[in-house]
Amino acid sequence: MKTIGFIGAGHIGSQLARLAVSRGHNVVISNSRGPETLSPLVAELGPSAHAATPAEAAKAGDIVVVSIPLKNYRGVPVAPLAGKIVIDTENYYPQRDGRIPELDNESTTTSELLQAHLPTSKVVKAFNHITAEALTRDGQPSGSKNRRAVVIAGNDPTAKTTVSHLIDEFGYDTVDAGPLKEGWRIQRDTPGYGPRRTAEQLRGDLASAKRYRDQATATAARE
Ligand SMILES: NC(=O)c1ccc[n+]([C@@H]2O[C@H](COP(=O)([O-])OP(=O)(O)OC[C@H]3O[C@@H](n4cnc5c(N)ncnc54)[C@H](OP(=O)(O)O)[C@@H]3O)[C@@H](O)[C@H]2O)c1
Repeated sequence: MKTIGFIGAGHIGSQLARLAVSRGHNVVISNSRGPETLSPLVAELGPSAHAATPAEAAKAGDIVVVSIPLKNYRGVPVAPLAGKIVIDTENYYPQRDGRIPELDNESTTTSELLQAHLPTSKVVKAFNHITAEALTRDGQPSGSKNRRAVVIAGNDPTAKTTVSHLIDEFGYDTVDAGPLKEGWRIQRDTPGYGPRRTAEQLRGDLASAKRYRDQATATAARE
């Protein structure tokens, strides 16, 4: 049994907290507006859930999930996450997050931004391509035929193994896309982003993914 901290308890954070509690873990959840605003979710989750500030959730978690709009990633507390495994669910939506030049020019990726902000944490990208409602709907026991899979990426192999075990507990196979810099292969508008896919299908999706600049070239060539 672990304590999983949550920075962000919206659509995705609350669903992952539900999965964590249902698998016997403790959760400490936080948001931007304050712990008192999370009372209904804590009441729903039961005695293994507590609400806290982001810094407290970061400190409490053996593993900490960051599930906030990307535009706010610089607000994630650094010191209490030192050395910890941090699961990053974030995606880049310019209409929500504003323009981030280093993502627009594809010189980095979303989870590399969080990793740079949290230099000693072990950031693992996960759960960025599955919708919130699917998280509690599509999980199946290990070994199930056509089990749905989730992509991970990260620079620390041991952290990825730990996160893979958690993902398995939550009901999903894992496909390792490689280091964080390969995370673009499962970013918005890539083939694996959104649909229900098995591990084998996702491996094909990752292999056929195109950079935004190449998608634009392909579109221009067709027009
Ligand atoms: N929705 C999906 O199906 C889905 C699927 C995969 C990945 N994602 C990605 O996962 C991330 C979260 O998405 P979501 O749909 O769960 O968003 P959401 O429903 O808008 O929830 C965002 C959560 O982040 C909190 N938050 C915002 N800024 C914060 C800060 N500085 N410190 C602490 N908490 C903060 C919000 O708290 P307040 O409400 O108090 O402001 C809220 O609890 C996004 O990057 C999104 O692109 C979403």
